[in-house]
Amino acid sequence: MLEKTLSIIKPDAVKAGYSGKIIAMLEENGFVIKAMKKINLTKKQAEGFYIVHKDRPFYDSLTTFMSSGSIIVMVLEKENAIADYRELMGATDPSCAKAGTIRVLYGKNIEENAVHGSDSKESTDFEIPYFFSALEIL
Ligand code: TYD
Repeated sequence: MLEKTLSIIKPDAVKAGYSGKIIAMLEENGFVIKAMKKINLTKKQAEGFYIVHKDRPFYDSLTTFMSSGSIIVMVLEKENAIADYRELMGATDPSCAKAGTIRVLYGKNIEENAVHGSDSKESTDFEIPYFFSALEIL
């Protein structure tokens, strides 16, 4: 069954010029891009996106970082997209992630870790419409 997930290339990776390489990895691994845009989040918009983490100690720093530069937001589709994209991203902390994953190749540290991916169907139901209307998803 085809499944959709939300992917974000974070400001560190966009600034470093890794977007093309990350998008190529997604396509090489069978993900189809159903929607894509480059945007700059305000601090408030970043806070809204990461609202599940509002009580975590890293919330302020994370949302400042996520609003510090452009991001590329995508809806990806493939079979088992949510789990397969989490696998391709690698662990949250790049220093603990498996070799060959996006975060090992392009992440700097646990905060500036190159990419975001939804962690469940429940998350995609919140995250995809946070960025895209139904008309923008092919
Ligand atoms: P989390 O949902 O735990 O990780 P993932 O992105 O792998 O789903 O955390 C969300 C983001 O919060 C994570 O990508 C980077 C940031 N973060 C920190 O800055 N410090 C931390 O200790 C953790 C756990 C996350």
